[in-house]
Amino acid sequence: MGKVIVVSSGKGGTGKSVVSGGLGTALCRLGKKVLLIDSDEGMSSLDLILGMSDAFVYDFADLVHRHCTPAQAIRPVSGVLGLFLITAPSDIGQLPSDKVISLFSNQLAGIFDYVIIDSPAGVGSGFIRAVNLQKNALIVVTPDPVSIRDAARVQAMLGELGVKNVRMIINKFETSLVEDGELPNIDDVIDHSGIQLIGVIPNDVMVLRCYSAGIPVTSGRAAAALGRIAGRLEGSYIPLPPAKKI
Ligand SMILES: Nc1ncnc2c1ncn2[C@@H]1O[C@H](COP(=O)(O)OP(=O)(O)OP(=O)(O)O)[C@@H](O)[C@H]1O
Ligand SMILES: [Mg+2]
Repeated sequence: MGKVIVVSSGKGGTGKSVVSGGLGTALCRLGKKVLLIDSDEGMSSLDLILGMSDAFVYDFADLVHRHCTPAQAIRPVSGVLGLFLITAPSDIGQLPSDKVISLFSNQLAGIFDYVIIDSPAGVGSGFIRAVNLQKNALIVVTPDPVSIRDAARVQAMLGELGVKNVRMIINKFETSLVEDGELPNIDDVIDHSGIQLIGVIPNDVMVLRCYSAGIPVTSGRAAAALGRIAGRLEGSYIPLPPAKKI
């Protein structure tokens, strides 16, 4: 049985979709078979950032309501062997209840090593639907006070929803700004959020380039950090490097 992981954040724009796509890509490079589910109803983005906007006729709601076959809704991501994507419905109000989503995700986890659900920001109904009845979540945080405070709220909500295994990814980390005292350091982010860390991804222009070009992030410092997080998810002991070396 594969692992279902929900990628969440309090504040929007922290990099959930980048992390979902990048982590999926990194796990595939370790030989895993990974399904990405975009659950950001009405605001899907993974299709675009993985260069697949023309590949979808059917979405997750169509699959659940049996308007299509699994092969029509689950599309392979070109350029990354073993990576597949189901996109979110373009209209809101299409996704079924949290129980159905959970049941479907768990069924799909029987076919894939990992199912990664890219959830909407915040703790609204879309987040609750994506998260409810799951066990594992990643919270993507940027090192700024608003993102950190909102992440702590998401962590509390995840606890109420019964999600047991929660880890934090600090994204868009900029060592020079920490050294100048303009942004909190890694220890401060951990202390203020109260969430256990699984990795730190640097601010990397390569991410922006890939994002705009619609190609998976496979090289550069952020890709390397995503590779280390994938290794940790796989149970390898990969120490978190000191802030200066990230
Ligand atoms: N490590 C990084 N380095 C540089 N830019 C990044 C990094 N991570 C994300 N970005 C940029 O931040 C922006 C937001 O990323 P993304 O769309 O993944 O955020 P999100 O949390 O999914 O947003 P939303 O809440 O709207 O769904 C994008 O322009 C992306 O290229
Ligand atoms: Mg997103």
